[in-house]
Amino acid sequence: MECFGIVGAGMMGTDIAHLALSSGFRVVVCDCDAAQLDRARETLGARFRRYVAEGRFRQVEMDGLLSRLITERSIGALAECDMVLECVTEDRSVKMEVFRALDGAVKGGAILATNTSSISITRIASVTKRPESVIGMHFMYPARVMKLVELVCGLATTRETFESAKAIVRQFGKQFVESQDSPGFLLNRIFAPMINEAVFALYEGAGTAESIDKAMKLGTNVPLGPLELADMMGLDVVLAVIEVMFDEFGDPKYRPCPLLKKYVAAGYLGKKSGRGFYTY
Ligand SMILES: NC(=O)c1ccc[n+]([C@@H]2O[C@H](COP(=O)([O-])OP(=O)(O)OC[C@H]3O[C@@H](n4cnc5c(N)ncnc54)[C@H](O)[C@@H]3O)[C@@H](O)[C@H]2O)c1
Repeated sequence: MECFGIVGAGMMGTDIAHLALSSGFRVVVCDCDAAQLDRARETLGARFRRYVAEGRFRQVEMDGLLSRLITERSIGALAECDMVLECVTEDRSVKMEVFRALDGAVKGGAILATNTSSISITRIASVTKRPESVIGMHFMYPARVMKLVELVCGLATTRETFESAKAIVRQFGKQFVESQDSPGFLLNRIFAPMINEAVFALYEGAGTAESIDKAMKLGTNVPLGPLELADMMGLDVVLAVIEVMFDEFGDPKYRPCPLLKKYVAAGYLGKKSGRGFYTY
């Protein structure tokens, strides 16, 4: 595998492009928003320049990495990729539209993967003519640092596709768990309700944001509290995940907290918008 494609140049797409470039791939990143593509290129360039200044890279290595990066608005630029990882907004209809387009644009035999945090792989795969080559590859943020990738097969995903995804995970220097194609898979099944519950605790006045995060950090030995983590992930992403779980399971225990909905409606999306449970 030589050419790795990414659709969606947001937080995850940019970070996974970093990983793929560092692992030796030619990387094609697509996004419908040209400003996002510019931001991704600037972010990666600035980061690699910092690595050169710190002596972690030589200038020639950085030039090599950036020369393997292509950014394009059109999905047609992904035609020759061996694998494409979709990293667009966590919205079922947007992802389905992107997969329909990818199926038509990307060469036969290529794997179409999705970084969805919660949406059914089987359902995403159903809009393509190659459901056997569709797989969930759920990276964590920041993908260049976090060790885990959750691999999720849809109903039609073949073992061959799974083995190819496993090989990529290894090339990226990560470990994987195989999760079932169930809403939120394994990680967010546990994690999203925990964050939602922390927001309910804040909403009902059980504690301040600071006390909730301090309790969880010092009491359960995690590096970030749930509200800090939600701000880092993006409150829109957290809400989208818990909404998929509420919708798919039909269980009131996954009801999104009204405060979370209100923050997203106000544009308080966490770090990326400068304001969430904390101000940045
Ligand atoms: N944020 C996290 O912590 C995190 C962690 C793991 C997985 N994820 C998943 O990764 C995916 C992306 O999340 P993110 O946080 O990077 O989102 P983001 O909002 O930062 O980026 C999404 C990008 O998708 C682009 N986009 C939207 N519709 C498009 C289309 N039709 N065609 C091309 N590009 C399109 C947007 O312009 C934007 O650049 C989601 O599925 C999310 O659930 C996020």
